[in-house]
Amino acid sequence: MVDTEVNRRVEELHTLINRYNYEYHALDAPSVSDAEYDELMNELRRLETEHPELITPDSPTQRVGTIPSSGFNTVRHEIPMLSLGNVYNEQELRDWAERVYRLAGRRDIEFVTEPKIDGSAVSILYRHGRYERGATRGDGTTGEDITANIRTVRNVPLRLRDGDGREIPDVLEARGEIYMRKADFEKLNEQRGDAGEPLFANPRNSAAGSLRQLDPAITSSRPLRFFAWDIGLVEGESEPTHSGNLAMLRSFGISTAPGATTHQSIDDVWAECQRWLERRPELEFEIDGVVIKVNDVELQAELGTVAHDPRWATAYKFPAIQKTTKLIGIEINVGRTGSLNPTAILEPVEIGGVVIRRSTLHNEDEIRRLGVLIGDTVVVERAGEVIPKIIAVIESRRTGDEKPFVMPDVCPVCGSKAERLDDEAMRYCINASCPARLKEQVRHFVSRGAMDIDGFGSRISEDFVDLGLIHSFADIFRLDWERIRELEGFGDKRIEKLQQSIEEGKTRPLSRLLTALGIRHVGERNAVLLATEFHTMDRLAEATTEEIEAIPGFGEIVALAVADFFHEQTNLDLIRELASLGVNMEEPTERRRPRSDAFSGKTVVLTGRLEHLTRDQAQEMLRNAGATVTGSVSQKTDFVIVGEDAGSKATRAQELGITILNEDALLQLLRAEIDDGVTLPETQVEDDAADS
Ligand code: IVH
Repeated sequence: MVDTEVNRRVEELHTLINRYNYEYHALDAPSVSDAEYDELMNELRRLETEHPELITPDSPTQRVGTIPSSGFNTVRHEIPMLSLGNVYNEQELRDWAERVYRLAGRRDIEFVTEPKIDGSAVSILYRHGRYERGATRGDGTTGEDITANIRTVRNVPLRLRDGDGREIPDVLEARGEIYMRKADFEKLNEQRGDAGEPLFANPRNSAAGSLRQLDPAITSSRPLRFFAWDIGLVEGESEPTHSGNLAMLRSFGISTAPGATTHQSIDDVWAECQRWLERRPELEFEIDGVVIKVNDVELQAELGTVAHDPRWATAYKFPAIQKTTKLIGIEINVGRTGSLNPTAILEPVEIGGVVIRRSTLHNEDEIRRLGVLIGDTVVVERAGEVIPKIIAVIESRRTGDEKPFVMPDVCPVCGSKAERLDDEAMRYCINASCPARLKEQVRHFVSRGAMDIDGFGSRISEDFVDLGLIHSFADIFRLDWERIRELEGFGDKRIEKLQQSIEEGKTRPLSRLLTALGIRHVGERNAVLLATEFHTMDRLAEATTEEIEAIPGFGEIVALAVADFFHEQTNLDLIRELASLGVNMEEPTERRRPRSDAFSGKTVVLTGRLEHLTRDQAQEMLRNAGATVTGSVSQKTDFVIVGEDAGSKATRAQELGITILNEDALLQLLRAEIDDGVTLPETQVEDDAADS
């Protein structure tokens, strides 16, 4: 770059960064993602390193925070509130540690690691054990006086407890993070969506926004929490180590960073960073990294600070999981049940090494809740390997050209009416033989969890429906092979294999056929329960709603759905046809008691957070039931049990077509093991997720 060009770019970066700073800190309404912001800051830092003469006192790199808005009084931090430098990988972490070792002149240094919770930094001052003042970090030197607001945060003690005989210092400043738990954040956003209020992009913005309300009553209504990550000003005794100070704060009743641990080597520190990264999806709060600190307070002082960052601490930053992009359009796909599923078409954006082009929008209520318009700039999140989703809309980036999306009231595939049933959020195409539905139904019928017809993939399902070779499930068993032979890519060998797979498909147990038929609320689990109870299709078809409802774990909704299915003449005709084509209609005797040996000899993987069981309990029960519990999903895996915030393992299971069970289903199947002495927590299993 020529010098004048560099000058111009530096000016431009100042303007941009200042604007984003103001939006982020003063308005709590950022219009760019953190990653984009970081990129601009890094670019400016780089240019300033290359051209130090361009550094001005008002450069954003020379000031950490932002202008306190005029609504609150300002507060001076007697000891500046520092920021943190970042490391992004193992090598950078080791380089940081090497500098610490070098400056300290020794290598026997103890480190403390703490999660870096994504919240808002505050200072809380106690005088003679009483809460006196709360302040935001601001620019590190001056912040805003938010005493009234912090007072509303439930886990901030207003009076300190006697600390295990320790004397409470005359003045004690706790520094830490105000944050919101993920579940609380989601609930809050749901309420805001219902009230037509703009959604918060993430728990951090939500915490920061709640904290900076002029009306403390509003702050009080928000589920904020605090944890301390350091002490500031102390008049009185403090401890010689950081971990000692955290323990001291805890003894006074102040929450401290959860999961802080000490380490003797940087190998250990790195291993801990990786553990946090792995645990990230299961945590109750959002973290964006791990903070690493030198434990010895005296050594901290010796190491000192550069600009605003201490040399004795750094943050290992996780790869970004949220980015902003544009919503180009909304596409409607018709599902197996006829549901109209809106999919967001996004301007491609890379998150964690994967280019995201589409994301699900679930249903029209979700579109309304997000308040998203076509052309909007949106925040997209991809947590771990989880399917990406739109988290929020950045309204400040609207140009006026955005268009609202109207959910069609006709099916985009067959043109039939698309209706919302009762109080369901989904809209359904009412045409039972809609080609889009049929394709999805066939795809499901032949899939691994259903009739398991090998070689009959999505592509064949689609093409055969399009070509008019399949109009109903029965057609799968009486295909016109002469016509198929004429199709491109269908040689003798492939046809022979396919025919063989279809023949094998006919022999599947009744439970598989029930799953395959796509009866509402009947997924694999309920299908097994029905087949076990009634043994044959005929007996099931004759069963009354009451008889079905009597199956443990079945509710009225499921029972009615099953009975309704068998009351429909077209369904009975289909079953008769299938039977005449040689499709098995019975559950084999040895499989009639699968509830008691569902897991025997099976390989099972657990992923995500379970509600009623701990990981260890679940593992033990599964092992008692004869299962082998392993850590990674492969072709050999029979079941993947998914809890809350399940990550890559669930996605992998889906890709491999492995049976996925939720906790309820797991408990239901394990319940049958009670005879073998396994005790289970009480749960009521109502519905099957299969068709919702
Ligand atoms: S220590 C000198 N510890 O991260 C030490 N900060 O990027 C200064 N944060 O401003 C901070 N968790 O708001 C520290 N366990 C933790 C933290 C933490 C979150 C935030 C804090 C800080 C920012 C720096």
